[in-house]
Amino acid sequence: MSFSILGTGSAFGSRVITNGDFEKMLDTSDEWIRTRTGIRERHTLAEGESLTQLACKAASGALEMAGLTPQDMDYIICATVTADYKTPAQACVIQKELGATCPAFDINAGCSGFVYALNVANGFFAVNPDIKVLVIGADAITRLMDWNDRSTAVLFGDASGAVVLGKGNGLKALTIKAKGNTDYLYCINEKDEYVHMAGQKVFQFAVSSMVRDIKKVVKDAGITFNDVDHILLHQANMRIIDFGIEKLGIPPEKFPVNIYKTGNTSAASIPALLDETVRSGAFKKGEMVVMSAFGAGLTSGAAVIEWEI
Ligand SMILES: CC(C)(COP(=O)(O)OP(=O)(O)OC[C@H]1O[C@@H](n2cnc3c(N)ncnc32)[C@H](O)[C@@H]1OP(=O)(O)O)[C@@H](O)C(=O)NCCC(=O)NCCS
Repeated sequence: MSFSILGTGSAFGSRVITNGDFEKMLDTSDEWIRTRTGIRERHTLAEGESLTQLACKAASGALEMAGLTPQDMDYIICATVTADYKTPAQACVIQKELGATCPAFDINAGCSGFVYALNVANGFFAVNPDIKVLVIGADAITRLMDWNDRSTAVLFGDASGAVVLGKGNGLKALTIKAKGNTDYLYCINEKDEYVHMAGQKVFQFAVSSMVRDIKKVVKDAGITFNDVDHILLHQANMRIIDFGIEKLGIPPEKFPVNIYKTGNTSAASIPALLDETVRSGAFKKGEMVVMSAFGAGLTSGAAVIEWEI
């Protein structure tokens, strides 16, 4: 009971905000943002641009790579916390735009949403292995930013990443976890509209959950760190990634990064990085890819997937 990734796609908001732009708006500096986060610029939705547009672009890229059409899909799952509509689900809006006809629904698991969605998809494959599932991570998290709060505003960007899943044995292991917490990373409906974050608390959670989850999935997959070819960590802060590299003792060249030009794109972070890395030609058939995410919830999750295309 497993699945294989047949195609990947991604899209980023078309407005670019550089650290220099923030220097003009806030009491901050390019130097502070670069050294504390690794971020140089981020993409956000432009005026008139929707999350649906980014998600459909990412989905179309994944479908094209897979050689499939929207009508071939049996399920569409979208991980998001910033859907264009409160209802219907973002996945249904994407379904309408793509012209697909299958069931479609959303998952809210913060920045871990994409890994959660892979787990849910895997359940559908357990029931019927002969299906195709479109899994999308999409967030316009800057919609929830207080642009006057320098401790959060500089960190995030808007994007979408997508994969098409089909029959196969690519997924080797997956874990998801949650530790209910409404103090460290939250945005309250209707009370106020902004994301609030206890940065250092989230940092500590990120490092410990990431290391724990990766060790678990590598063990569950029956492999060792030496067998891992690529590790895609949630792109939240370069210092968190550096901690992961140090604590896991895996060579840094195995960790693709794009945070310097994307910021933290929430549920889109891992699938968008995956697509960029795939399209750069870095993956070879048979290689082992590890993904690890953490986020609001507090949630976390990791997976080991053998690359098969
Ligand atoms: C948010 C984060 C970058 C802050 O970095 P940090 O090294 O922990 O910094 P601190 O929060 O201790 O703040 C240090 C100082 O920098 C200041 N500061 C915060 N943001 C700043 C900014 N953009 N520019 C300049 N100074 C800033 C703080 O006000 C504080 O000033 P003070 O010492 O006068 O009080 C870091 O904690 C982080 O990345 N945490 C994890 C966040 C995350 O991953 N979130 C997403 C989860 S999905």
